[in-house]
Amino acid sequence: MKLLSRYTPLQIAIHVYAWSAFVWIIYELFNGSFSINPIQELEQRTGRHAITLLVLSLLCTPIHTIFKWSEPLKRRRTLGLYAFLYATIHVIIFVDLDYGLAWSLLIQELVEKPRLIVGLIAFTLLIPLAITSFDIWKKRLGKNWKRLHRLVYLIAPLAFLHYAWSKKGDLLSLQGEVAKPLIYGLIIATFLIFRIPPIRKAIASFPTRRLTLSPKKD
Ligand code: HEM
Repeated sequence: MKLLSRYTPLQIAIHVYAWSAFVWIIYELFNGSFSINPIQELEQRTGRHAITLLVLSLLCTPIHTIFKWSEPLKRRRTLGLYAFLYATIHVIIFVDLDYGLAWSLLIQELVEKPRLIVGLIAFTLLIPLAITSFDIWKKRLGKNWKRLHRLVYLIAPLAFLHYAWSKKGDLLSLQGEVAKPLIYGLIIATFLIFRIPPIRKAIASFPTRRLTLSPKKD
């Protein structure tokens, strides 16, 4: 109980949500109710969880701007690191479980499937963000820290492109499995529009009641 009281409800919700995918996978594996194609299922689930956590990390700034609720800003790092964790597990599953570390085969696959290259670029860009997400790097990098972390606005559309491309569907004609990727795409596009300074200023100037959900502590 004492441990729980150290965390805010938002912190608890984030940790529970982040670990839920992992716990659910383990539960289904032991329960024997997992997919008949477990490797593909693992790839898909970890990929989806990674992009969802990434999108949630992007949601923190608009929530703060609109509701003047500052706690989400403190939780961006946790969400971003969880997104990186699941993206890393996703890549490990692909490289190890799916391709058995057969590097020449992997390179051939990357060359043949540009959607994998898009995923690789997104993952590579996530690495410096994860490494420098700690306070010590914030201090060391100064103004450049913010500049570097704006990369997330490039990573998110790349992750969306990789996602949409992985599905059997056509986004332009809205045929096939496009519904879910489209939702992610629209949310990410909204966040990008939100970054445009005049739009951001206009939204920030809306009179909003301050949300005081979080306790005083960090
Ligand atoms: C080296 C980098 C990456 C590789 C090699 C890779 C590989 C793959 C593969 C093979 C699939 C297809 C699974 C299938 O449907 O059979 C996939 C799907 C997916 N990946 Fe990645 N991925 C990479 C990076 C990322 C990153 C950084 C993210 C998100 C942050 C991501 C999110 C997704 C999502 C959302 C899907 C679709 C899941 C679904 O079908 O529902 N991937 N990836």
